[in-house]
Amino acid sequence: MTIGEPRHPFPGWVGDVMAQHAGDFGKYPPNDGTPELRVAIAGYLQRRYGVTVGDDRIIPLNGTREGLFNTLLALCPEEKRGQRPVVLIPNPFYQVYGVAALAAGAEPVYVPATAGSGFLPDYTALAPEVLDRVAVAYLCSPSNPQGAVADNGYWTSLIELAETHDFKIFADECYCEIYRDAPAPGLLQIAQAQGGDPERAVVFHSLSKRSNLPGLRSGFVAGGRQSIERVRHLRAYAGAPQPLPVQRVAEHAWADDAHVEDNRALYRRKYAVADDVFAGLPEYTPPEAGFFLWLPVADSEAAALRLWRETGVRVLPGRYFSRVVNGEDPGAGYVRVALVAAEDEVRRGLTLIRDCLYQ
Ligand SMILES: Cc1ncc(COP(=O)(O)O)c(C=O)c1O
Repeated sequence: MTIGEPRHPFPGWVGDVMAQHAGDFGKYPPNDGTPELRVAIAGYLQRRYGVTVGDDRIIPLNGTREGLFNTLLALCPEEKRGQRPVVLIPNPFYQVYGVAALAAGAEPVYVPATAGSGFLPDYTALAPEVLDRVAVAYLCSPSNPQGAVADNGYWTSLIELAETHDFKIFADECYCEIYRDAPAPGLLQIAQAQGGDPERAVVFHSLSKRSNLPGLRSGFVAGGRQSIERVRHLRAYAGAPQPLPVQRVAEHAWADDAHVEDNRALYRRKYAVADDVFAGLPEYTPPEAGFFLWLPVADSEAAALRLWRETGVRVLPGRYFSRVVNGEDPGAGYVRVALVAAEDEVRRGLTLIRDCLYQ
């Protein structure tokens, strides 16, 4: 229950599509992705969010992780208003945000995403001098590790803040297809409805969680025309485009929603298992979306070790996702539990966790 590696089956046609196009391993793939793949992605964005995004505003990625890194290199200026730029990062966070900020020469500013702030960072509470230096704000929704979802109001005020202080928002939406009831709203959808500068919104999506294909290494970035042009420029020199047969599989995957619904149904069953196992436990916050539980404990490492020693269940200490800021570590009092295994295995694991840590 440590790594967030999906273990549900991926669609049965993946191997066939790959084999059908195996001859294309003999060709250099286009840097920007095939037009067919970009059109399939645009179709997905239309169906999922009701947004119209030209295929020139989309670039396929080798999974979102490299995109979250390289897109910051492409879009973070060397200076903002004559000063070192700031990159805002929720705390706890997916590690690549911090690595990207440092590689781009920016100052990472970690903003607590705790129970008190609905497990999302309150960027609006930062000092105006800091906000004026912000080049990019990362936001993960549905969030890893807490499973929190940024609602319309959250996105709207973040977009307003970005307009006021002139920065871009990088929305990591790779868990957007795994939710309980209502689909999580996306940044492009809210930004388009708000009618602001389209260059502010940059979104990242992945087939890793949507289609259970973490090994395919396939995702995309979409954003404003100028932003995507800069990403394209960087990739023309330093990119590693996806092999054509992989792009063909991705094209099929983005065009198909049936397998995504089946997958979501499996996760819904596991949310129900978690709600059942932890029923009545005041410490338990049911995740809104994604496939992690973020469980409070006295000490994250001690709890993970005890669990492993006494039950054989492995989880990740929350402090491996967080930074100490002003003496506070928002991950130190949590463990992260991945609900990726089969339902019966998840029930067994969660029951052991409950009995070991909460009774
Ligand atoms: C929050 C978050 N973003 C991005 C990724 C990267 O996913 P991938 O590179 O497989 O698309 C992960 C993977 O676990 C993640 O948890």
